[in-house]
Amino acid sequence: MKKSVLFVLACVMLMSGCRKKAETTDDRKMNSFINELMAKMTIDEKIGQLNLIVSGYNVSGPVMATDYEKLIREGKAGNVLDAFGADYVKSLQKMAVEESRLHIPMLFGHDVIHGHRTIFPINLAQACSWDLDAIEKSDRIAATEATAEGINWVYSPMVDIARDPRWGRVMEGAGEDTWLGCKIAAARVRGFQGKNLADNNTVMACVKHFAAYGAPQAGRDYNTVDMSMRSLLEWYLPPYKAAIDAGAGSVMTSFNEIAGVPSSSNHWLLTDLLRNEWGFRGFVVSDYTSIWELLQHGVAADSADAGRLALNAGLDMDMEGKIYLDHAKELIKSGKVSENTIDAYVREILEAKYKLGLFDDPYRYCDSRREATSVMTPEAIAFARWFAAKSMVLLKNSGNILPLNPDIKCIAVIGPLGDSKRDMLGGWSSAGDWRKCVTLLEGIRSKAGNKIKVTYTKGCEITGSATDGFNEAVTAAIKADIVILALGESADMTGEASSRAEINLPGVQSKLADAIISTGRPTAVVLFNGRPLTVPEIDQKAGAILEAWFGGTETGNAAADILFGDVNPSGKITMTFPRSVGQVPIFYNCKNTGRPISPANPREKFKSNYLDCPNTPLYPFGYGLSYTTFSYSDVRLDKKNYTGADNIVASTDVTNTGNRDGEEIVQLYIRDMVGDVTRPVKELKGFSKVMLKKGEKKTVIFNINPSDLSYYHQDMSFTWDKGDFRVFIGPNSSEGKSADFTIE
Ligand code: GLC
Repeated sequence: MKKSVLFVLACVMLMSGCRKKAETTDDRKMNSFINELMAKMTIDEKIGQLNLIVSGYNVSGPVMATDYEKLIREGKAGNVLDAFGADYVKSLQKMAVEESRLHIPMLFGHDVIHGHRTIFPINLAQACSWDLDAIEKSDRIAATEATAEGINWVYSPMVDIARDPRWGRVMEGAGEDTWLGCKIAAARVRGFQGKNLADNNTVMACVKHFAAYGAPQAGRDYNTVDMSMRSLLEWYLPPYKAAIDAGAGSVMTSFNEIAGVPSSSNHWLLTDLLRNEWGFRGFVVSDYTSIWELLQHGVAADSADAGRLALNAGLDMDMEGKIYLDHAKELIKSGKVSENTIDAYVREILEAKYKLGLFDDPYRYCDSRREATSVMTPEAIAFARWFAAKSMVLLKNSGNILPLNPDIKCIAVIGPLGDSKRDMLGGWSSAGDWRKCVTLLEGIRSKAGNKIKVTYTKGCEITGSATDGFNEAVTAAIKADIVILALGESADMTGEASSRAEINLPGVQSKLADAIISTGRPTAVVLFNGRPLTVPEIDQKAGAILEAWFGGTETGNAAADILFGDVNPSGKITMTFPRSVGQVPIFYNCKNTGRPISPANPREKFKSNYLDCPNTPLYPFGYGLSYTTFSYSDVRLDKKNYTGADNIVASTDVTNTGNRDGEEIVQLYIRDMVGDVTRPVKELKGFSKVMLKKGEKKTVIFNINPSDLSYYHQDMSFTWDKGDFRVFIGPNSSEGKSADFTIE
């Protein structure tokens, strides 16, 4: 293992190189300020900077250090998580700045995942917009609102690639694709950190969870991650690097092990790769008590040993574990940890505080006037509505029962998610106020006005076996011109510690759907969920399906905008929807295997298939419909044969062949036909969002550089091959036209 890891280091070093940044005047000023401050610090005060504790305000896990005010006043808590509110944060900051010996201001970190007070769609939904500018803008607004309430550090972006929808935290990420995940990771860092960290409306980002937290065995949260170094480097690590290359100021370690080594004690991950190969110059924070959890992993004999492992691995800051607070001093005295190590971490943390402008003005993020004017503004709410609609995906619309016919007289809204304010925010929306959410029923009633009667019956609960509400629901359906059936999960069925072994509609919702659809009334299902669900029966029977995800504060208005046709849906899924949980993990960029099925005979014996389920997903990566239709011309290439110095220029004409304007997300995939190792059947390498008026045609052009086709070879060199390639351009990962080219 050691030999291959050394190979990896050699190769990764070749690729990424260690770019030492030239020192600027500002750097020199910062360094001399920090040198002077550190010269005064006692070892206790240094260790205090490595300590991150919860205050009594808002807690996301067990509380280990309860005497937070005393620790702050003694300079033994340099950072606080989960505290917000300008006045409250100011009260804590004053304890550090005015009562501790060296007056060092504190970082105030919080999970601002998809909005702060104005809640935007969950991140998996946002990714389905494929709108990098909108994603960046949503985090810009989130940073503006969070900093108005004292927060200067956010535990975002979460960039964990995930191919297993049983894992509840898929809701926080961008889905299964590494290339798209890298683009989104960088956009989020730009949104949070803006142009200058010292501005009072920018926050320091913290890219998480480093690393490969999204690949737990069996989709069970916190479970073991074990994969080849090639998979780790090719599929799971790039989005973290993209966030770091975009300037992310901090990194959070993941709870999981990778091939036997927990991330919080993984020297290769945190020092050799992150700092020495990737050139990361910020600080690393553990996840919540993840240093203490090294005992549970069975790699630390006691909590002091856990502290030794983490400190020597490259982990600067202990989130609520109290391990560094209790043991770091003794570890230094005994020589098990060098004081130079502590000094390096203290410097990295003080640099973050300096860059945030906290030494100039420790209260710059505690301005209650901003809190009163910069939070949930009309512009933020309007953007939340627009973005939620952009993130929703039309999965089916047979017979064009959507958009709703303006002449209808009665709509029956039915289902447990039809009028649920609490669920619309989705997970990780702690500062969001669910009472300000717009439900589907409210959104539809607001649109319908007094022209259309809108009834509501719940029919059943989200979970449970009671069907006594079915009759009333069926009666309501029969009386209506159309049924809007609101089904899905509760918000707390995704997010942390929320894995599911089955990913179908919970409870008796499928039975309710059968009862309603059996009435013969046209039925459009609206799904509210935080993960891909296995809903083949809904796909078969419902007239239309709108994937609304958890759309945040403005969910109901956004869904109504689509249902009534004021918005033409354009979202496309970024995580495969399986037919059955038995297919998981199922993802589009899979390998061909030595016995691939033939589409003409998918059940052929002795091929890689199932006896009881097709190989194909219910909905493939990149899939989503519109109220209009689009056609694609053949793929054109500017050459047939290229040299390594050429850009491959591929193009297609996309025509809006329907009867209303619409936006299409045109996707480009490439297959390396013969590799040094097996290669995916296709990989996303480009996309373009194209607005087309009805009847309009546009030419979409993609430029691919051979370096975009690089991969890790058997010797772990990261480079591209000469040889034959196939380029696909189409509306999703399973449809489209192709052309072949060769790099000579
Ligand atoms: C949680 C999560 C992490 C979050 C942290 C602080 O356990 O794993 O994503 O940022 O603790 O709330």
